[in-house]
Amino acid sequence: LMLCFSLAVGSSNPVSLRSADSGVSSSFPSNFLFGTASSSYQFEGAYLSDGKGLNNWDVFTHTPGNIADGTTGDIAVDHYNRYQEDLDLMSRIGVNSYRFSISWSRILPKGRFGGVNQAGIVHYNNLINELLQRGIQPFVTLTHYDIPQELEERYRAWLSPQIQEDFRYYAEVCFISFGDRVKHWVTFNEPNVAAIRSYRSGIFPPSRCSGSFGNCSHGDSETEPYIAGHNMILSHAAAVNLYRTKFQVTTTHFPPRMLGIFNLLMKFNVQKEQGGSIGLVLNALWYEPISDSTEDQLAVERALAFFMNWFLDPAIFGRYPEEMRQVLGPKLPEFSSYESRLLKRIGLDFIGINHYTSFYIKDCMFSSCEQGPGASKTEGLALRLEQKNGSYIGEPTAVDWLFVYPRGMEKIVTYIKERYNNVPMFITENGFGQTRDILNDVRRVDYMSSYLDALETAVRKGADVRGYFAWALLDNFEWTSGYTTRFGLYQVDFPSLKRIPRLSATWYKNYIENFIFKV
Ligand code: NOJ
Repeated sequence: LMLCFSLAVGSSNPVSLRSADSGVSSSFPSNFLFGTASSSYQFEGAYLSDGKGLNNWDVFTHTPGNIADGTTGDIAVDHYNRYQEDLDLMSRIGVNSYRFSISWSRILPKGRFGGVNQAGIVHYNNLINELLQRGIQPFVTLTHYDIPQELEERYRAWLSPQIQEDFRYYAEVCFISFGDRVKHWVTFNEPNVAAIRSYRSGIFPPSRCSGSFGNCSHGDSETEPYIAGHNMILSHAAAVNLYRTKFQVTTTHFPPRMLGIFNLLMKFNVQKEQGGSIGLVLNALWYEPISDSTEDQLAVERALAFFMNWFLDPAIFGRYPEEMRQVLGPKLPEFSSYESRLLKRIGLDFIGINHYTSFYIKDCMFSSCEQGPGASKTEGLALRLEQKNGSYIGEPTAVDWLFVYPRGMEKIVTYIKERYNNVPMFITENGFGQTRDILNDVRRVDYMSSYLDALETAVRKGADVRGYFAWALLDNFEWTSGYTTRFGLYQVDFPSLKRIPRLSATWYKNYIENFIFKV
């Protein structure tokens, strides 16, 4: 068995090569998924190839001034054409899963207002088949920020309930085309970040904001994020409901005396017996109060409610968090009783957690304080980066939002476990960004190793965590930061696009290898 893992990933510095403590058994279950994560716009490039339609990010990045270094994802890291080479890199590391997203506009260039682009289907079929041949399970996100531009132009995308039908249709095309082989589906990646950045701060397309939030000419930062979020939740529900009723069903769900009906349905292709699972991925920050005061502790609850539970509570309990309802009143859209019951009934098979960092929180509702630019007056809190007595919550890094605070991983996982009755969880992203090319990325190795240790602690205490995905295999297009922030286990040289292993690639390979020894 070890022969399979003995391929060297690249040159390494043995002194800094810390891997999992050998000899001690791992807290992760033996079928734990270890992978790397990516997204279509950040990785694929090939933005006009093989019938793909334009998406909102194609349009946005082509507008000067939107991206720090003036770059686009036109080529990105050319994963669309180089996926075989990239899958080989994954095999060398020894991962057993790969999280990627499907480009909606590659499958449906004009949404439901045009045909299915067969070349797009062929591409993802090839990718999925090549993964399976290498023993790597696909873990597939339906939308990771990029949506067909057509939907923006026809009806303002997430601001209109019409998008629910588009998303349902897109999900159906994907379930029909790939669901026989994909057993982990994610409806949305970080809808919380998408709603805030697209409709409050305006730094993501369609650049809507108002007041003190940014320099947009349209929008309403205090209401539109919630309208968009509402349509995202209902779109999510439409896809999950479809999956549950038409695709996920297995013979085991049917009482034996009804198997005849089941077989009949299968025969007429009404039912497809796919039996996978479907969940939702949130950006999950951990927060510590800046003081022990009740007000600051309540502000932490509000921060969690307004960012993460905003989506998780509806997806699991069928209603918005109490804090949001109280503070926002009529600004918060309401679910009909049918929608509410539906959401509660379909629930989630798993929660995907993208966790990188933690922040200090200070109350601004009961006490006066400086909120800083971009903070929401309604939420009444300040995300404070400075700690009490001038020290940070964790070690600062070159990336302004990234503080190394591994305990945050244990705490957020434990919080989610307790609030949502220990529904299965995956760490769908965790990673370390750098602003310079560093091959000997000891800080990334230390970061991953300490966050994984903290995750193990949460698992040891009972959290049902089933996988971990490192963001990312390769350096890639980091949204408004362009290519200036690099998260790769492999460095990508531009413009040659050559992939060069960093120390962290070798470290991750050893970590997984040790895990296999331990279980
Ligand atoms: C989370 C997002 O899902 C991903 O697209 C992004 O690159 C990473 N965070 C790093 O910022």
